Amino acid sequence: MVVAISPGKIILFGEHGVVYGKPCLSVAISLKVAISVEKSDSTKINDDPLNEKKHSYISKAIEKLWKEGGGVSISTFSQIPSASGLGSSAALTTACVASLLSMNGKFSLPEVARKSFEVEYDVQKIASPNDTSVCAKGGAIFVSNKRGDNFLWSIEKDGKEWYIHSVELPPMKFVIGNTGAKSKTPLVVKKVEKFVKQSSFAKELLEEMEDIVIEGKKALEKNDYVGLGEIMNKNQKILHTIGASSREIEKLIDITRKAGAYGAKLTGAGGGGSVIAISDEPEKIVKEMRSRDCDAFVVSVAKEGVKVWS
Ligand code: MEV
Repeated sequence: MVVAISPGKIILFGEHGVVYGKPCLSVAISLKVAISVEKSDSTKINDDPLNEKKHSYISKAIEKLWKEGGGVSISTFSQIPSASGLGSSAALTTACVASLLSMNGKFSLPEVARKSFEVEYDVQKIASPNDTSVCAKGGAIFVSNKRGDNFLWSIEKDGKEWYIHSVELPPMKFVIGNTGAKSKTPLVVKKVEKFVKQSSFAKELLEEMEDIVIEGKKALEKNDYVGLGEIMNKNQKILHTIGASSREIEKLIDITRKAGAYGAKLTGAGGGGSVIAISDEPEKIVKEMRSRDCDAFVVSVAKEGVKVWS
């Protein structure tokens, strides 16, 4: 039997833009997905027969990576609320791909990142390799269309190339607020894509977001929480304008800022899901948010990415 654990993720800056090769900065978080995989006569997921619709990511990973006869019996356990923008699908995909690669004797982090991206892309029909790469690597990553310092690996698709870099992070905590509304990643990504294809204004906003990600990276490297908060607020404005926000997100962000956070924004695809916020007193912000009936909690950085035991 093989067991794998993968962290979830938050995107600090640059979601959506990264689909078009723009930069993005994201962090692996302390909420995780665990999976066990063993050979079996037939393929089962949590004791149910494999269902391509219900188990779309696992099913695609098996189709791509399980070439032996017979099936696999898979059990999953997740601490990450589903469709919350916190990487539940990316973590599940990464853990599943890592397990299957390890059973084939082909495990390496770049290979896990590449194959996991292929699985996400095939299921969603549109995606960047950001989410699966940060789950594979752990810590923080910077994705860009140019190779720079601390380069880890690159991933290519349809004429685009994403260069994945590691970013040094001090121990940090983030406030998460969950709207409770589902974030349907493929739908929101396609909605934004329509806007980007039709409007030069949307393209300009993505250019602006590029500068925001670079500014955000500098603030992060300087441990400047006030600066990070301001840049998060700027990023949120753009995400709202390109159609990735929602009434629930805006309301929760407002509460989070009023609770004393330096800044807050949606994280992941949006349209629902979670907001992230920065403060040097994250527990206090969470307490304040909970007193206003919000589902809020603190996450820390997961230094390690996907891990496999066999
Ligand atoms: C979703 O977590 C992040 C998006 O940028 C999509 C992607 O990069 O695949 C919205």
